[in-house]
Amino acid sequence: MPSPTPAFFSSALIQWYHRHQRALPWRETRDPYAIWLSEIILQQTRVKQGLPYYLRFIERFPTVSDLANAPQDEVLRLWQGLGYYSRARNLHFTAKQVVEEFGGKFPGTYQELLKLKGVGSYTAAAIASFAYKEPVAVLDGNVYRVLSRVFGKHENITAPASKRVFEELANTLISVDEPDTFNQAIMEFGAIQCTPIAPDCLFCPLQQTCFAFLNGLVSALPVKEKAKSSRQRFFHYAALKVGDQVYMKKRTQNDIWMGLYDFFLVESEAPGLPPQEVHALLEQDLNTPLPSFKVIEKTYKHVLSHQKIMAQFYLVSLSVRLRDEVEESIGLSLYSLEEIEELPKAVLINSFLKDHLF
Ligand code: ADE
Ligand code: SF4
Repeated sequence: MPSPTPAFFSSALIQWYHRHQRALPWRETRDPYAIWLSEIILQQTRVKQGLPYYLRFIERFPTVSDLANAPQDEVLRLWQGLGYYSRARNLHFTAKQVVEEFGGKFPGTYQELLKLKGVGSYTAAAIASFAYKEPVAVLDGNVYRVLSRVFGKHENITAPASKRVFEELANTLISVDEPDTFNQAIMEFGAIQCTPIAPDCLFCPLQQTCFAFLNGLVSALPVKEKAKSSRQRFFHYAALKVGDQVYMKKRTQNDIWMGLYDFFLVESEAPGLPPQEVHALLEQDLNTPLPSFKVIEKTYKHVLSHQKIMAQFYLVSLSVRLRDEVEESIGLSLYSLEEIEELPKAVLINSFLKDHLF
């Protein structure tokens, strides 16, 4: 069974909406001010908690000019309990902006609405469609979930780059005749029917065309992968030279670059280790007194999927080889530059070699 056609999807949703929608006061109006107000409140809280706030605001400030002219204290007082008071100050600011820049009339298109402070693509699409029937799709968590499941979209919905994919899909689906009802319907459908946990698939009008339902992927969709926090690592490499030869070491630990060759390495938890400290650590780990070294100013960086390597290099010219037991315990061997050229190495090591040794 293929995905539903736009016409089927949209009419099924709208029919469902007519039977199941909650009666909410901001759905009874085409006043962009009232719609904007409701959306700002609903960004802060759930419908049930937001409703009394909406009713108090709209009663006390029936127009955007009433809100703009109110003392800030009163706006904050009415907002009290919703939390995140910068939202209330922004609400007040935007009301004044509408009065001062737009003569008290809300901008009349999606693009113009975006010029208002605190009005992003979601709020602009909500106002433009609900108030002016402009066919621009809203995208909120509900919409992402419904589209991901019905159309089998596996894009990670927490990745900003996925927004375009869902936006394009939603805008091909939106009903041109009833963009307002379509937008309300898809959000309501996500809130009531196609819920995050235990959606009501058994009594769902989209069941027979729903990718997730048909493929047993309802709980797997939408894909929400938190960006793995990238671990930062600070490497201090001592390039130890004896004459024309350089000590290198094969990486044997189960870590990045396993099997590749690098230099003697000290890792630190934080950046900015002073060179004297690095020197002391090297002497300690090598169990050998070292001559002073040359600090390479440049930090060599390498970004991997889950970690970021920041490497500092120190050039050390030894007058004699390290003791055999030191070489052996650490796994260091001397190589000529020609030999080093042939060894497998990470890009970062190669860059350093090119800059300073080859
Ligand atoms: N949440 C955000 N906007 C909404 C709306 N217009 N109706 C119901 N819930 C919402
Ligand atoms: Fe959502 Fe289930 Fe309906 Fe698919 S069948 S749209 S997953 S409720």
